[in-house]
Amino acid sequence: MRLLAISGSLRQASNSTALLRALAEEAPAGVEVELWNGLREIPPYDADDDVTPGPESVEAFRELVRDSDAIVFSTPEYNSSIPGALKNALDWASRPLATNAFRNKPVAVIGSSAGAFGGVWSAAELRKVLGAMGARVTEVELAVGHAHEKLDEQGELADDEVRDGLREALQTLLAELRVPVAA
Ligand SMILES: Cc1cc2nc3c(=O)[nH]c(=O)nc-3n(C[C@H](O)[C@H](O)[C@H](O)COP(=O)(O)O)c2cc1C
Repeated sequence: MRLLAISGSLRQASNSTALLRALAEEAPAGVEVELWNGLREIPPYDADDDVTPGPESVEAFRELVRDSDAIVFSTPEYNSSIPGALKNALDWASRPLATNAFRNKPVAVIGSSAGAFGGVWSAAELRKVLGAMGARVTEVELAVGHAHEKLDEQGELADDEVRDGLREALQTLLAELRVPVAA
């Protein structure tokens, strides 16, 4: 069973990416979590280049999604919405719409922000986009506010409540795949 973990942030010390590393630690035996590090390589969407095969990085992303059993996103909020790089990658992945790699794929969305609200608008918009692409959007709604305060000096998650939330998110996503997880 393979989960693909996608962070909406490119920066090295990203809170969003730290949440995915912590989520990987909570994965039960038999569930492998792979953190995608190809976001930076995806070019700006251009329909003229959206031919078969498309750009190498895009084809690799589409294949990775197809080969994964489910996808978990952790995203910051940029101006009350999805970071542009992430939305751009999803635009590529969404074509052709009828057979796109995300169609029927179980997905979970985690939001975070430096402020109090935990990126709720960004997460809501991401769920909307994934729904439009035909993904199976689970009811996971984890919003981590003041995210930077929940990491230790090494940049790793040091907050039990958030860790519980991540475990719950995993349970919800894996239930969609009918994988039993200890509570
Ligand atoms: C361009 C930009 C726009 C932002 N807009 C918002 C916003 O609308 N709401 C919010 O809560 N935080 C906003 N932030 C702050 C981010 O939540 C914060 O930088 C967060 O730590 C980024 O996530 P990361 O740690 O995963 O990189 C914004 C940051 C940037 C760089």
